[in-house]
Amino acid sequence: MPYVTEQNLTDIVKERWTHIPDPRLRKIMASLVKNLHVFVREIEPTEAEWAATIDWLTRTGKMCTEKRQEFILTSDVLGVSMLVDAINHRLQSKATPTTVEGPFHIPGSPEFADGENMAEGAPGIPCFVTGIVRDLDGKPVAGARLDLWQTDGEGLYEAQRDEKEAWMRGVYHSNPDGSYTVQTVAPIGYTIPMDGTVGELMERTTISHFRPAHIHFCIEAAGYHRVVTHLFQRGDQYIDTDVVYGVKEPLIVDFIKKTSGKTPTGETLATPFYEVRYDFVLQRKTAAQKAA
Ligand SMILES: [Fe+2]
Repeated sequence: MPYVTEQNLTDIVKERWTHIPDPRLRKIMASLVKNLHVFVREIEPTEAEWAATIDWLTRTGKMCTEKRQEFILTSDVLGVSMLVDAINHRLQSKATPTTVEGPFHIPGSPEFADGENMAEGAPGIPCFVTGIVRDLDGKPVAGARLDLWQTDGEGLYEAQRDEKEAWMRGVYHSNPDGSYTVQTVAPIGYTIPMDGTVGELMERTTISHFRPAHIHFCIEAAGYHRVVTHLFQRGDQYIDTDVVYGVKEPLIVDFIKKTSGKTPTGETLATPFYEVRYDFVLQRKTAAQKAA
């Protein structure tokens, strides 16, 4: 084996890292070594810069707990989470597109009947989300499970409020005609956590650290691709600069503000409320996908 020089080092390392029986891991490590060496050769870090990099990664790891994941946040702000999502959910163009799940989903949300309020007692402007769950041919999908989570009208998720009871999340099911009605309050835009290592990095940029107002959905129906997505409020000041790159054009919806009047659930409100209308389009799994 030749001894290393700056010129031959990458090739020697690449050759060493081919000695992996698992073909997938071998491919991953070959690409990692190749691209990491390209990165370092391009940057030519000083030893102090490389030490600062290791220190940043170390502190990022130490910040991670059961409730906080600074590495996921890193992946989010670098657009990697959305890239992984896109690669894994190549749906047809008419199907409702996916976006990242994000860190705030809590499984086992309470079940609500059609039209019931999942935001009882929460601050914010009442908001009624209605629509139909359909397939690609326009046929209604009955019994689809809609799992929702969002901020309250103060921009906070359950995990950020230390609530004892479920907060701003719920499970609904589409009716036999595919329709659904959710009663909630309107979410508002929020900043990603800025008190950690990601915030430290963001503070050295002029990049916006806000997300536009959105409601998260996970929609499941037997025989269809599961869709994890958001609905975004059209006109939100952060709609074009979402810090995690989650906004896709088909997911931007009008939040129509009514000053008062009859709501989609039939009651009459004397105060303002929003109406949001959105039809979700699910894509059937192929026979092979169903078997997988
Ligand atoms: Fe969110």
